[in-house]
Amino acid sequence: MKALLKDSYGRAIRDLRVSVTDKCNFRCFYCLPHGSPEENAPKSSVLTYEEIELAVELFVSLGVEKVRLTGGEPMLRRDIETLVAKLARVPGIKDLALTTNAFNLAERAAGLKAAGLDRVTVSLDSLRRAAFTEITGVDMLGRVLEGVRAAQRVGLTPVKVNAVVVRGHNETEVADLAAFARENDIHVRFIEYMPLDSGHGWSRESVVSGAEIRRRIHERFPLVAVGVERGSETATRYRFADGAPGEVGIIAPVTEPFCGACSRVRLTADGQIRTCLFSKVEHSLRDVMRSGASRAEMADYIESVVLKKEPRHYINETHFEQPARTMSLIGG
Ligand code: GTP
Ligand code: 5AD
Ligand code: SF4
Repeated sequence: MKALLKDSYGRAIRDLRVSVTDKCNFRCFYCLPHGSPEENAPKSSVLTYEEIELAVELFVSLGVEKVRLTGGEPMLRRDIETLVAKLARVPGIKDLALTTNAFNLAERAAGLKAAGLDRVTVSLDSLRRAAFTEITGVDMLGRVLEGVRAAQRVGLTPVKVNAVVVRGHNETEVADLAAFARENDIHVRFIEYMPLDSGHGWSRESVVSGAEIRRRIHERFPLVAVGVERGSETATRYRFADGAPGEVGIIAPVTEPFCGACSRVRLTADGQIRTCLFSKVEHSLRDVMRSGASRAEMADYIESVVLKKEPRHYINETHFEQPARTMSLIGG
């Protein structure tokens, strides 16, 4: 058994996020405002399901316990249920989750559950049809809400909802989203806007801080911190003081960075390991895999890459530059 994956700052890597496609059918302005990136990766460079399974097995043999499938929109990859079923059989995975825009989750939730998926996270930034359409570029609020309900019905729980909060778009709606969490027993997580949008529209003024989000919710629904150790979690978690169901999470990478406890690495659809959301360099596991390397050589490669993990992001420094790959290519 190989040693646990550790980076050069002593952080243990427990969490692998796998983007299965760089394509998306929504156009969220904070991610992909101007349509698909010019160049989607050519098909031959996209990892096959067998290659993804091998990569996951290697990471898990090195200590990864949580695996999340992302995109783009992961349900656009053909028959994603097949990949889920393969990964659900990998011994050692304690948590297998998927992040989706939920455009067709209503029809597919049962199949994903049957394939062995543990839970889903749905991107949902507004409960008002006009605002939803303005933010995502598609008029699909109804379908997304049906998807959330279907996921709950089949037990892909706890269903989490990700809401990116952006000044001038949805900051006045955060308490309504918290109400939605209470009424539907959902974990809603509010995320500070990060400079990872392909339109380069991010500005410091557009960031709504975690503190402001907390205050806006607390005014209407008093919150109590969930008394568990945060560990490497992205979110600080709150429950409702009155005992209502549901949960609120606040993910504040800009104003309250959590890099010191980061346990995450990412694999892009074209097989590049990214050791940070904001990495400037990538490491081609695909090339190593396709060069005929043995499993031991691939594991050694992964260990050597993890040692290069960045200490933190530099969003708050004056010389900060956005990475070339944007969120639609990394997957969140
Ligand atoms: P859970 O296991 O469900 O708690 O997942 P998670 O907390 O990793 O959440 P999820 O994958 O839904 O991530 C939510 C959002 O948090 C992402 O879409 C990103 O915006 C942000 N995020 C996740 N991981 C990182 C990270 O490592 N660094 C930074 N800066 N932001 C992150
Ligand atoms: N800032 C913060 N979060 C983002 N996401 C996408 N773009 C950004 C951004 N610029 C998150 C969304 C989505 C997930 C895949 O990535 O919450 O749920
Ligand atoms: Fe980890 Fe990089 Fe995110 Fe910081 S910005 S938490 S180091 S992935």
